[in-house]
Amino acid sequence: MNPLLREVGGYPLAAYQDLKAELAADGTPLHDFSIGDPIEPTPALIRHALVAGIPAVSQYPTAGGIRELREAVAAWIQRRFGVRVDPDTHVLPTAGSKEAVFHLPLALVDPDGPRRAVIWGDPGYPVYERGQRFAGGTSDAIPLTPDQGWRLELADLPASRLDQACLAWVNYPHNPTGATVDLTFYRRSLATAREGGLILASDECYVDIFSDPGATPPSALQAAAGDDPENPDLTGLLVAFSLSKRSGMTGYRSGALVGDPQLIAQQRLLRPNIGTASPEFVQRAAVAAWSDDAHVADRRAVFNAKRAIVLGFLDDAGVPVSRSDATFYVWFAAPGGDDMAYAQALLRHRVIASPGRAFGPGGRGWLRLALVPDVEGCKEAVAIWRDAIASGALPGHA
Ligand SMILES: Cc1ncc(COP(=O)(O)O)c(C=O)c1O
Repeated sequence: MNPLLREVGGYPLAAYQDLKAELAADGTPLHDFSIGDPIEPTPALIRHALVAGIPAVSQYPTAGGIRELREAVAAWIQRRFGVRVDPDTHVLPTAGSKEAVFHLPLALVDPDGPRRAVIWGDPGYPVYERGQRFAGGTSDAIPLTPDQGWRLELADLPASRLDQACLAWVNYPHNPTGATVDLTFYRRSLATAREGGLILASDECYVDIFSDPGATPPSALQAAAGDDPENPDLTGLLVAFSLSKRSGMTGYRSGALVGDPQLIAQQRLLRPNIGTASPEFVQRAAVAAWSDDAHVADRRAVFNAKRAIVLGFLDDAGVPVSRSDATFYVWFAAPGGDDMAYAQALLRHRVIASPGRAFGPGGRGWLRLALVPDVEGCKEAVAIWRDAIASGALPGHA
C-alpha cells in the first residue's frame, strides 16, 4: 500500500456516509446537513440533453472535450463576468472540480524542485492538501480566522514562505465558512502571486450560489481582465468552475478549468494519462446547463429559503453564525465551544452537522450545516433542535 494513503486514511467526510447508513437502518427520519450534495432535482432541460446525447456507440472522450462545451463555458463567463476567454486555449472541461483540484498539482509540482509547497487556507476543502501530497508536494496551510473574514491574504505572507511555493489555492465563496471576497481581493492575490512567481488557483465552484442578486460574487478572471475584458491577461491564473452546485449535477461530474493558456496546455498534456474526461453525453448535458441561467436563479431561491429558516433559528437560539451571503453552507460557533461534542450531541437528535475540524484544525470550535434537506426537512430539523435546546438536552448560547 502507498504509505501516503495509509497516512491520510480515507476521505474525512466519508465516515459520515457510513454513519448515516447506520442511523438510517432503523427507518426513523434523519436530518442530514453533512455532505454538500443537494437533493433538488436536476432541471429537466439538462436531463433531456443528457438522454438526447447518448449515441449508439459511446467512444472515448478526448481530454480537450467537445468544442460546444468549451464554447458554452466561455459564453457563460462572458455573460456572468463580462470577460472574453478563448474556448480553445483558455478552457478545459473537467469531470467535476474535485478531480481537477486533486490532479492539478501533478502537472505543476516538481517533487525534486525548491518550490514544492502548496498554499491553502485552513479550514478548507481537504482536497487542496490531498492533491499536493500525492503529487510529491508539501503543504503550507494558512490559518484563516473570523476576524479576517476567513480570507487567505497572500500579501500578508512573508516572501520566504511564498518563495517555497509553486501554487496557492483560494476558494471564495468559501467552503466551509460561506465567506465571500470582493474584486480587490483577487487583484491583490493575483499581483502577489505573479510577483512571487507562483500560480494562483482559484476554486470558484460556488460562484453562482449567492443570496443577493445585487452583490454577485466576483471571479479572479475579472481581476486578470483589468481594463481589457476583451483580451484578459490570464498569466499565472487557473480558475476551477463546476456544474455540481450551480445546476444540481453532482452525480454527472462536470466542471471546467479556465486560465493561463500555458497552464491549460500542461493540464491537457497530463490528463490523457489519467483518463478523467467526462463521457460525451455528460458533456452534452453540460452544454445545456452552462447555456441556461434561469434554472440557477430557481435553485438560488430554494437555497435562500432554506438559509432563512436555519439562520432565523440560530439567531433566535443565540448561536453565533459566521454571516455568509453565498454557498449553501451555514457556519456557526459550537455552543459550548467543542465542535465534535456538539456534532455528537446533535446526532442523538438525528440531526447531522459536520464538525469544523473535518476541514482542518482551523475549523475547531465551529460546525458546518450544508443546506441539503428540503424546506420541510429544514423546518423539521430546526423544530427538533429548538425543542432540544428548550429541554436542556442541547446548549444554545456559545
Ligand atoms: C470548495 C470545493 N471545491 C470543489 C468541490 C468539488 O465539487 P465537484 O467535484 O462536484 O465539482 C467541492 C465540493 O463540495 C468544494 O466544496
